[in-house]
Amino acid sequence: MDDPRSDAVVFFGATGDLAYKQIFPALLGLVRDEGLSVPIIGVAKAGWGLDQLKEQAADSLKHHGVTDDGTIRKLTDLLRYVDGDYNDDATFNALRKQLGDAKHPLHYLAVPPSLFGTVAEGLAKSGSAEDGRLVIEKPFGHNRESSRELSRLLAKFFPEDAIFRIDHYLGKEPVQNIVYTRFANSFLEPVWNREHVESIQITMAEDFGVQDRGHFYDETGAIRDVVQNHLLQVLAQLTMDPPTGEEHEAMRDQKAALLKAVRPLDPMSVVRGQYDGYQSVDGVRPGSTVETFVAVRLLIESWRWAGVPIFIRAGKRLPVTATEVTVRFKRPPRETFNEVVPNKAGHMRFRISPDVSIGMGVRVKQPGERMVGQDVEMILTEQRPSFMPPYQRLLGDAIRGLGELFGREDIIDAQWRVVNDVLDNVTPVYRYKPGSWGPDEADALLDGHGHWHNPSTS
Ligand code: BG6
Repeated sequence: MDDPRSDAVVFFGATGDLAYKQIFPALLGLVRDEGLSVPIIGVAKAGWGLDQLKEQAADSLKHHGVTDDGTIRKLTDLLRYVDGDYNDDATFNALRKQLGDAKHPLHYLAVPPSLFGTVAEGLAKSGSAEDGRLVIEKPFGHNRESSRELSRLLAKFFPEDAIFRIDHYLGKEPVQNIVYTRFANSFLEPVWNREHVESIQITMAEDFGVQDRGHFYDETGAIRDVVQNHLLQVLAQLTMDPPTGEEHEAMRDQKAALLKAVRPLDPMSVVRGQYDGYQSVDGVRPGSTVETFVAVRLLIESWRWAGVPIFIRAGKRLPVTATEVTVRFKRPPRETFNEVVPNKAGHMRFRISPDVSIGMGVRVKQPGERMVGQDVEMILTEQRPSFMPPYQRLLGDAIRGLGELFGREDIIDAQWRVVNDVLDNVTPVYRYKPGSWGPDEADALLDGHGHWHNPSTS
């Protein structure tokens, strides 16, 4: 491409939930902060006209706290609308017309995954795919095989470097900060390995349930919803080797190498749970065995990480909403000061949400005559929750053609490989009480590696 910047943004599913919640605010951010001024074309089958789309955009922005009508108008003035069925060539021909002179349109598919192929094909047939880009939402496939099929299908219409698979965790400032902090400080590298790290924990807790997403969630479950994607990405940021060279794919190459080294989960390393009351959520099948909680124990087969257990836990209706990573260091080899209470190991803690901090746990001497210690945590940084919303960052990158923060085919495949053998009903599902930390069975997974670290509310 001569000009790597997209010169039009098309979003399918323009009248839907994702557009309302994420895409309009992200586009507004790009218009306001980066001067985005290309045509923005919404496509949907809703019997709407342009005015309705503009009203919807304004409503979404007000709902997200944008009060200035002038700013809102800057976005709505760029909007165009095409109404039509995705199975009808006429829809794509109308879109082609709206695209006018645009040569590098970006097509954002905020539609159900079953329509990805149909839309990609419609774009290709109407001549709108050529030199264009495709942004797609998760879930990318339902298992390893269907993800591969989807990749094969999309590859017929778009080259791999024009496909941007969204994982919004990668657009989060604190998730990027993990990799930044690791590689911007040389003191960490010597201890970031099996010699010094005892275990790693990642907890993503949400105090709310599946809300109005019963139907979607009951087809998905926690492993597919957040472990296969968000949490394995966080793990990769935390454990990958530093990128080498100047190649723009260097970061994703290292991430792919790491994820390919993760040993596929087996049923003994997985505990699934379901909160009491889940089955009465609208859209959930009676007798459903879908997990709303999962805890897993992973191993990475590499020289750096061999033998270091990695515990990942995610659940709905837990006591708090918070995501934290803790890297526990090994204890000193001798109890030099003969403390009666065994000292805890040091740690490094990355809090990803809702607030953002990085802490380092160390043991220091308590004031007094005796050589007795206490655990303290230094807070290295505390930051505002989010400087730039993930969708704004990601959409901006896709418009500029920067793929680093997106899933690549081999990365997505490696992520499915990790979870593929434990999807669905391979393991039992235990009940847990809303507001608890999930089923007790999850504790047994730690087996000699301390306790789960439960993130606090703030
Ligand atoms: C989504 C999942 O991908 O991520 C949701 O489908 C989950 O179930 C959400 O709640 C969490 O994202 P965040 O940014 O609120 O941590």
